[in-house]
Amino acid sequence: SRTCLVTGAASGIGKATAARLRAQGCTVIGADLDGADIRADLATPEGRSELVERARELTGGRLDAVIACAGVAGFDPLTVKVNYFGAVATLEGLRPLLAAGTDPRAVVVSSVASVHPCDTAVVDAALAGDEPAAVAAAQAAVDRGEGYLLYGSSKAAVARWVRSNATTADWAGAGIPLNAVAPGTVVTPMTAPMLADPETRRVVDTSVPMPLHGHARPEQVAPLLTWLTSPENTHVTGQVVFLDGGADAVLRGDRT
Ligand code: NAI
Repeated sequence: SRTCLVTGAASGIGKATAARLRAQGCTVIGADLDGADIRADLATPEGRSELVERARELTGGRLDAVIACAGVAGFDPLTVKVNYFGAVATLEGLRPLLAAGTDPRAVVVSSVASVHPCDTAVVDAALAGDEPAAVAAAQAAVDRGEGYLLYGSSKAAVARWVRSNATTADWAGAGIPLNAVAPGTVVTPMTAPMLADPETRRVVDTSVPMPLHGHARPEQVAPLLTWLTSPENTHVTGQVVFLDGGADAVLRGDRT
């Protein structure tokens, strides 16, 4: 059976994805701050190393799929640390284990917020791999009252990282599809408080319009993540797949 590692496995989309993989007969290793097989704080270099070391111990150095779901939605630099640097460290750190696996695949959760306005200084520093500069730029955005740009910036950066890395020798060259999924609004512990308050719910629904079926449940995101990381996916790579009830088409429908 396949051995799959899911970050953010204790809640929301990661939890639903881990459950689906287990139901399919996969061996799942969950990682999260707490309540998972591997406890690791992906905001820190130590936590990122811990993830890779523990994964190596638990798997004997072979993984067939990585599903990187861990993320936060705050208006502060932590969002950039976890959503970009934590996610990239997960993918890069576990790539050698995937290279030793069977039909290896990887996917990371971006967001439809990646098409919202972003802070280019944060995105550029992130893509340059300069975490101190990205965090400083994020703090500068907070100081200007633009902390709300950081979530979308972190998700735009991770989507761009996927697009530029998927076709390299490390990924495509090693036979490993690498994609991002960009959900619209999904009802999880992350969004529940925003959706419970009518005022913030209105803001969410205006910025992420979902004409098809409205808000999604985590169980409606999991099948795409599991398919992209299954052996059936042989040729989809470098994509940012929007699972958003049409939000991306509404927001930038004239771009293909
Ligand atoms: P959630 O809050 O239910 O689950 C996220 C998980 O990530 C939690 O278990 C949390 O402990 C873990 N996590 C947070 N910081 C961490 C850290 N430093 N180290 C390790 N684990 C950490 O949220 P949800 O909604 O399931 O989100 C999953 C992913 O989907 C996130 O990347 C989020 O940004 C993304 N997303 C969510 C959307 C939504 O509407 N819920 C929409 C688009 C993207």
